[in-house]
Amino acid sequence: MKHSKYSVIIVGSGIAGLYAALKLTEQMNLPDGLLVLTKASLSDCNSSHAQGGIVGVLPENSADSVKIHVQDTLKAGAGLSDEKVVTFISENSNVVIKDLLEYGVEFDRNDKNEFNFTLEGAHSVKRILHAGGDSTGANIEKALVKKVNENPNITVYEQALAVELIKDENNRVKGLICYKSAIDEYEAVYSSATVLATGGLGRVYKYTTNPEVATGDGMALAYRAGAVLSDMEFVQFHPTALSVPNDDSRFLISEAVRGEGAKLVNSDGIPFMAKYHELADLAPRDVVTRAIFSELKASGDKNVYLDATIIGKEKILKRFPNIYKLCLSKGIDITKDFIPVSPACHYLMGGIKTDITNAKTSLNGLYAIGEVACTGLHGANRLASNSLLECVVSAYELADYLSFANLEIPDMIDDCIMDIIRKYENDDEYHDIDVGEIKSELQQTMWDLVGVERCEEDLKKAYEKIIQLQQRFEYVDKCSTFQEYELRNLLCVSKIITLLALKRKESRGGHYRTDYPQPSDKAQHSTFVIGKEDIINDKVFIA
Ligand code: SIN
Repeated sequence: MKHSKYSVIIVGSGIAGLYAALKLTEQMNLPDGLLVLTKASLSDCNSSHAQGGIVGVLPENSADSVKIHVQDTLKAGAGLSDEKVVTFISENSNVVIKDLLEYGVEFDRNDKNEFNFTLEGAHSVKRILHAGGDSTGANIEKALVKKVNENPNITVYEQALAVELIKDENNRVKGLICYKSAIDEYEAVYSSATVLATGGLGRVYKYTTNPEVATGDGMALAYRAGAVLSDMEFVQFHPTALSVPNDDSRFLISEAVRGEGAKLVNSDGIPFMAKYHELADLAPRDVVTRAIFSELKASGDKNVYLDATIIGKEKILKRFPNIYKLCLSKGIDITKDFIPVSPACHYLMGGIKTDITNAKTSLNGLYAIGEVACTGLHGANRLASNSLLECVVSAYELADYLSFANLEIPDMIDDCIMDIIRKYENDDEYHDIDVGEIKSELQQTMWDLVGVERCEEDLKKAYEKIIQLQQRFEYVDKCSTFQEYELRNLLCVSKIITLLALKRKESRGGHYRTDYPQPSDKAQHSTFVIGKEDIINDKVFIA
């Protein structure tokens, strides 16, 4: 097995990972260099799919302030957002947005060359910056990829999946084992700072706006190493994903479309959101999603519709060129036709518990930024376009913290590591399993039983089913293929979501229990660490 060492390893190449890589190489001397590891290609990430935008609380926007943004975020977070964290991120928005401009990101501007701020659900003022109309994430990612490719101090491994964290006898993370799928080889990479920036887990569910790569890898990796995860039951279901017959893909129809005036209507063309919330179509995301769910339950339809014709053709083509094109490819002209939409899994509010000021996790040597992390910003329900802001602020803070840290790499190989290395050097055990079949059964189960609406009976059924699927899967330690590793991660995070959803006997934000429809008196975070809930009912599972 090949062994290598870097001053810092960043796992994941979305906006959080690449921005952190650039800031780190700018701010400090990295004697052993910096490695960015990605399981696909550099720009294949969840960030590239973010359409609506990024929150910018900027001095030039006289209608806005940190105070108002904090209030909006706390309200959407349904009692679980941490006010200090929210304020910190909001106050740092100006700095990181200016920085992104310097990296070459071009946010859309009006005729006077001012930022063209837009609105999304539960924002009380227009404060969302966008780029390329409706391809904000892809535009930011593109600018960062260009800078990373030009930077001689950043090494990139593509098609390299992190499969296990290496720890020393003091439980300190000192690197990882990666599986290079293109050449079917393992490599041990040592570092004193291992940063997880692996994004979300949308592919746990049958219907999701997330790309294929969103398989919860970072959460599963950290969990297996014993890091604390928090609030994993809070999954956000976006209300408006394109929903056409005989097609399970769910292309995102940005909330910004409603921000520009589009209305949700039922199959008779009647708007319905005013019945559910005073903000109607711009109510918080969880409210809109549940409203659609109840409309669908009552009508028996598979989707409701978004009427974007109100926006007008000229504006649609300018603001939503990507959505326009994609819908047209499915035979829907959004300047004239209603868009069939239904909810789909979009984002995880929980993740690896971290401190926003330095991105530290509960394990020394391990850091987490972006969607994989749970900083306390989103609480039980994320406010639209806060996620990209969190990505950049947490990456910025990580770089700042590490620039004062001692990044000397500890001894590369010691006794603790030898066992791990032997495992990956041994020949594969062969299991005859159908990865695709187990994966689709898991995704269907999670969608049916651990989705927008949950109850004890369904959650218990889901838990039993996941256990059965794990038994059919058989691999608990080393897998044979890239797809098996991804499935192992999906099974691991599905089980955690389900167990925590069972434990949370209340409804709050993205977690709605039909058997406990009200929030409890006290808002509490949930935490999950290996060795506790995993020994439930004598079913020990080391995922
Ligand atoms: C959207 O454009 O609706 C998604 C933006 C977000 O997830 O914040």
